[in-house]
Amino acid sequence: MVQATSSDYGYLRQMVFSISQNVLDPSRDYLFDSRLTKVLRNQGMSQLGDLVRLLQSRRDTKLERDIAEAMTINETSFFRDSRPFELLRNELLPPMLITRRQTRSLRFWSAACSSGQEAYSLAMMTREYFPLLASWNIRIEGTDICAEVVERAQAGRYHRIEINRGLPARFIVKYFNKVLEDWLIKPEIKEMCAFRQSNLCGPQFPFARTTDRFDVVFLRNVMLYFSPETRKMLLERIHRVLEPDGILFLGASEQPADPSLWTSVLAGGTCYFRKSGGREGSVFEAEKGADLGTPRMVLADPRNYSNGAT
Ligand SMILES: C[S@@+](CC[C@H](N)C(=O)[O-])C[C@H]1O[C@@H](n2cnc3c(N)ncnc32)[C@H](O)[C@@H]1O
Repeated sequence: MVQATSSDYGYLRQMVFSISQNVLDPSRDYLFDSRLTKVLRNQGMSQLGDLVRLLQSRRDTKLERDIAEAMTINETSFFRDSRPFELLRNELLPPMLITRRQTRSLRFWSAACSSGQEAYSLAMMTREYFPLLASWNIRIEGTDICAEVVERAQAGRYHRIEINRGLPARFIVKYFNKVLEDWLIKPEIKEMCAFRQSNLCGPQFPFARTTDRFDVVFLRNVMLYFSPETRKMLLERIHRVLEPDGILFLGASEQPADPSLWTSVLAGGTCYFRKSGGREGSVFEAEKGADLGTPRMVLADPRNYSNGAT
């Protein structure tokens, strides 16, 4: 049995970086000891040093991926940092609905979705406050590098403690079924969402086809694990898949550095980002040259999409 040396931890850090681009600080090397116990057990080992020797002796991409995934931080909750959801609901979605009234479709991406709470929050929000959108094609895609959390998102099953974080009581009874100690998201919400495992920084970007376009992207609380170069590369990729009037939300402490690509907008006590030089999804824009066939007042009034509940 070989105890891990500081160069073993360095090796593991470098390996994790090469897969997920997550930069792990040496001061937190102790996390390898706690997080890799399952990986070690699966290998019939008890010491990280033995694991590193194994990795150095032969290439095992599955094992490397398991290690990188085990080192991800999957903290999340329903309606986390509620302001982006409130802003979407009150100010950003109503004009967007006008510009999309012909295609009747909206596409959201919860990038780094963890166990799915962010995606399901978006689905519940549209269902709750914009009931007329039930006849639209609303798609919420969730992707994450970590297979375990993606499976949890796909199952849509949450423990009482997770449910009690951020969800109003009436949402629980309206959108979940109780199963023993857990709560299962109802099919009508689940079917709006699709989850899959995907690496935001790998050679294959999750949405690389030219037809892949999103109206709203949530890329929250993941860029803080990346290097400045990775952030820049990722934001360029996100820029390519966002509609010209699309909206990007980052985590509260995250910023896209490049002002030539992104314009930040402060509103509703939070900050969101539009493509620099992109079209703003305003009622004015929606009206330009368009035969709306509906009085402006009617289209601009969110109450005509929403049930007015709070
Ligand atoms: C702290 S959680 C954030 C979850 C959610 N966005 C939120 O704000 O509540 C960060 C997530 O990013 C994922 N992640 C880390 N590196 C990634 C990568 N390279 N590609 C995709 N997902 C990644 C982790 O697996 C983890 O679930």
